[in-house]
Order: sequence, then C-alpha cells, then structure tokens
Amino acid sequence: MAEGRLGVGFIGSGFITRFHIKSWVGVRDADVRGVWSPHAGRAEEAAALARSLRVGAARAFASIEEMVAAPEIDCIWICGPNHARIANMERIVDALSRGARLVGVACEKPLARNGAEARRMVELVEKAGVLHGYLESQLFSPVLERGREIVWARGAALGGRPYLARAAEEHSGPHMPWFWRGDQQGGGVLLDMMCHSLEVGRHLLTAPGAPRNTLRPIKVSAQIASLKWSRPEYADLLKEMMGPEVDYRKAPAEDFARATVQYVDEKGLKVMTEATTSWSFVGAGLRLSLELLGPEYSMSANSLDAGARVFFSRRLQGKAGEDLVEKQNAEQGLMPVVGSETAEYGYEGENRYFTQCFLDGKQPWLDFHAGLDVTRLLMACYLSAEQERVIDYPPADLDTFVPAVARGTWKP
Ligand SMILES: NC(=O)c1ccc[n+]([C@@H]2O[C@H](COP(=O)([O-])OP(=O)(O)OC[C@H]3O[C@@H](n4cnc5c(N)ncnc54)[C@H](O)[C@@H]3O)[C@@H](O)[C@H]2O)c1
Repeated sequence: MAEGRLGVGFIGSGFITRFHIKSWVGVRDADVRGVWSPHAGRAEEAAALARSLRVGAARAFASIEEMVAAPEIDCIWICGPNHARIANMERIVDALSRGARLVGVACEKPLARNGAEARRMVELVEKAGVLHGYLESQLFSPVLERGREIVWARGAALGGRPYLARAAEEHSGPHMPWFWRGDQQGGGVLLDMMCHSLEVGRHLLTAPGAPRNTLRPIKVSAQIASLKWSRPEYADLLKEMMGPEVDYRKAPAEDFARATVQYVDEKGLKVMTEATTSWSFVGAGLRLSLELLGPEYSMSANSLDAGARVFFSRRLQGKAGEDLVEKQNAEQGLMPVVGSETAEYGYEGENRYFTQCFLDGKQPWLDFHAGLDVTRLLMACYLSAEQERVIDYPPADLDTFVPAVARGTWKP
C-alpha cells in the first residue's frame, strides 16, 4: 500500500459500481484503481468514469485474479450480481492463496441469496484472513445518521429508549433482468430491498456506540405478494422490457413485502421494526422513508420530500431518463430533485467509513457477520410468508431453507 493511501478494485461495472465511483469524490485516502467485469468494454467505461472524475487512475483488468494480484490494488469491492457472489469470492480467495495480498474485501448487499450461501461467504473471508465489510449504504445516509444521533441524545436520554422503527424502500422495479428472476437474484423485492429496511430499523433502535448485537430478534412475521407484475398485461410488458427470460406468467417473484421483527434489548425490553418494500410503487422515483418512535418523541424522513422541486409543463416533452432521481418515472409536472444522491443514499459515508477502517487495519463493525444475520432474518421472513404464521426466531433449519420464489415454485 502506498503511504497512507488505499487502491480499490471493483468487481462488476454496472449500476452500483458507477454509483460508488461517483461517490468517491467525497472520499479521501483511497483511489479507484481497477475494475473487472465479464464485459471488458463496460469495465473500461467504468474505469474511464473514475479517471474523468479524478478519483483514481483506474484501469480495466482482464480477470479477478489479475486485479487482486496487482500491486496498486489493496482492497476489493464486490459489486457483481447476487448469483456470482460465491464464485467471485472464491476467485479472490484463490488469488490470495497463490500469494496475492489484500487488506480488505467489502461486499454489496445482500451478502448472499440464502443462509447457506451467506455462511459460505463468511467462511471464505475468514479463510482469506482479510478485513471485511458489508456494504449497507442506507445506514450511512446523512439524514438517518443525524436524526438517530439527535433522537438518542435528546429523546431517548430523557424519555427512554425508542420502541418502534419503520423503514420502507419503494420503486417501480429493478433495471436489469437478473433482479426479476428468483433463481438468479435469490428472491424478489423482499431479498433485494428489505435487506436495507430490516437493518435500518435495527440500527435506528440500537443506541449509537452500542454493539450491533444489542438487540436480539425473537419473532418474525412477514407477507409477500405479487400485486402488479404478474397481472397478465404487466407480465407481458415486463417480458417486453426485460426479455423472454423474465416470464411472470410462469415464474413470478414478489413485488411487495412487509415484515415485522420483534427484538429484545439487553434489559429484556421488547422493541419492534416494521418494514415495507415494493417494486409496484409508482411515484416520482425511488422513495426511501423511515420513522423512529419513542415514548415522548419521533423522527421521520422521506427521500422524495427532501431538496428542491422542479416543474415542467405539458408543452415540454423531453426524453425519459434518470437525471432527476433514481428510478425516475416521469419527466413532466412537479418533480423532486435530490441534491446529491451519492451522499443522500449513504454511498459517500459508507465508502469513507470502510476506507478508513481498511487503512487503519481495523475490522469494520458492519461486516460479513452482519450480512449473514440480515440474510438469515430475510429467510425467516420468507418462511413466515410461505407458512402464513409468526416464526419464533431462529427457526430450525434456517440455513438450509431456500425460498419458493428462488426455487421457481412460488404461486402468488
Ligand atoms: N446498496 C444499494 O443500494 C444497491 C443498489 C443497487 C445494487 N446493489 C447491489 O449491487 C450488486 C450489483 O447490482 P447492480 O445494480 O450494479 O447490477 P448490474 O446488473 O447493473 O451490474 C452488475 C455488474 O456485474 C457484472 N457481472 C456479470 N456477471 C458477473 C460475474 N459472474 N461476476 C462478476 N460480475 C459480473 C455485469 O457485467 C455488471 O457490470 C447486487 O448485488 C445488488 O444487490 C446495491
């Protein structure tokens, strides 16, 4: 490692890698130096983006092994699709076993598609003996961090701990076919987006500075549904947009999920998180909302209510795009503008945090074990939804459970 500076290499050159690269303008002490993806041209485009933003002298690598072994690369951000997680991690570990050196590996959410795969990710990273981080961006969103800090410092200190956290992530559906396929992604919206909302709820209810495992889950209740995309006309539209491999007449995944998780704290007090996620939400674009409630106080935030508004009359019929907000649904009328999406959604703070940990040789508190915990909770949610009952946590055989949506046998 060059004195006081880390070199980061990305696996994957898609949507999230580009977000991370853009966020790097707000990160010190590390440079983006490499990108590998099976699509060499797109890896080169992502590397060029990093160079143009002056966040690093990035280049495209021909293989994961070559990138891991390169002397200018000190850590890897795993940003490939969910179905490539284990294979990506195995190749990193293999390169390390043949003499390459890394300080740390950070992995996008979800850590894996089910409990068994998540355990394998933990096993592999521990075998590799490197520091590890679980990239849960929303915990680093400035409104969440600041709101949580104020609520705990003023509300909880005077009135007692908060008891209920609500978190929701909603948009009109993912951008690539593999997200829609239960067999590839591992589920539907519950796996894809409730991983955020469950962890946001838990984080809000955990005192700043307290260990992540202060709260212990005891009961899980969840429901899933396909409200929009398996309607015949929308199944056909989805096929038209995503290609013949996405057929919601035959193999749907859920586009709506809700869950409540009951926890006990270290004093035995019961607290609750409530999460809602949806791919069937139609609004201006991605909506992230959260609430934290305690005995004499509350806080709330909604990403679409923040920042500026613009208005375009019906005479202006511009091109469809995502230049105003992620997963934008309209180009006319009153539209919200999120000042800095990379900051507001948490990517800047997240990358700053993991960079500093890796540079200081410190194990991040948000690590692969946290990713495993979240995956196990998600599996308990699927189990509850499938069996239509409240699950005492942890249920037996949680780590061998694979959701019906992932097995292609789910009937909404
Ligand atoms: N934190 C967040 O809010 C957030 C947002 C979006 C995506 N994600 C996560 O990031 C990951 C990537 O999502 P995305 O939206 O960038 O998807 P994407 O489809 O836009 O990009 C995936 C990238 O992986 C590459 N790829 C394909 N096969 C691969 C393989 N076998 N090994 C490695 N890379 C391969 C593709 O070429 C592409 O560059 C997913 O796990 C997703 O859940 C997180």
